[in-house]
Amino acid sequence: MAHQIEVIDLTHLPPADGILSQREQAYYKTLRFPKRQTEWLGGRIALKQLVARVLGITDLIQIEVLPQDSGKPQLLVGGKTAPVAYSITHSHGLAVAAAGAESTFLGIDLEKIEPRIEAWKNDFFHPNELTGEGDAFLTALWTQKEALVKLLGTGLSLRSNEVCCIHGKPRFAGRALEIYESLGAPQITVVTEHWPGDFMFSVAEAERAIDSPNPKE
Ligand SMILES: CC(C)(COP(=O)(O)OP(=O)(O)OC[C@H]1O[C@@H](n2cnc3c(N)ncnc32)[C@H](O)[C@@H]1OP(=O)(O)O)[C@@H](O)C(=O)NCCC(=O)NCCS
Repeated sequence: MAHQIEVIDLTHLPPADGILSQREQAYYKTLRFPKRQTEWLGGRIALKQLVARVLGITDLIQIEVLPQDSGKPQLLVGGKTAPVAYSITHSHGLAVAAAGAESTFLGIDLEKIEPRIEAWKNDFFHPNELTGEGDAFLTALWTQKEALVKLLGTGLSLRSNEVCCIHGKPRFAGRALEIYESLGAPQITVVTEHWPGDFMFSVAEAERAIDSPNPKE
């Protein structure tokens, strides 16, 4: 199946009751900042609704999105690993989840186009990546890098120049290259869209080689 997405407006979230499992509720209560609570809940609602639709499940509590040390949440259905690839992002009042075939790797990122200062550009991008200019270009490039980081699924912090994207083509170096190779060096496509409200949204997706490991392991 091609990946599907679900977009949630964080200003109109339903109450968490009836959506979160006991384990999810326990974690939700540990979140101290309202913005983080809203984004965390919105991401879960988006992914649960999407997975319910894709897998034909009616009870959202059966679908659990549990925290892991890597930062990438674990997705369970009825207590077992869900047979889908998935990713979550949130930005400026929106939460987005994507789900695709189990046989794929998936990473998404959403960012609002905002003024970017020169120091930010120089800190986070390799000169070879700067094939364009302007805030829309830089924001798009940022979403591509973040989507690739999420596809790799690593919780280890990567230096931003280890994950590059040049004209939509990923280039990995150092630790990121090691992780990419450990996944079987799959062919990755990166697609970026300009959404209404001045958002950039990128999806990084790849077919898994047979027997390649799960990126969260
Ligand atoms: C993990 C990271 C990609 C998250 O991106 P972000 O723009 O801060 O936040 P987003 O809202 O887009 O995404 C957050 C979601 O990403 C997911 N996520 C977090 N860590 C992840 C990981 N290791 N792998 C896959 N997904 C991950 C989670 O679902 C999280 O939402 P949740 O905590 O509510 O479940 C980012 O924080 C990061 O560590 N980037 C690497 C650092 C860097 O320098 N990047 C530069 C480009 S290489």
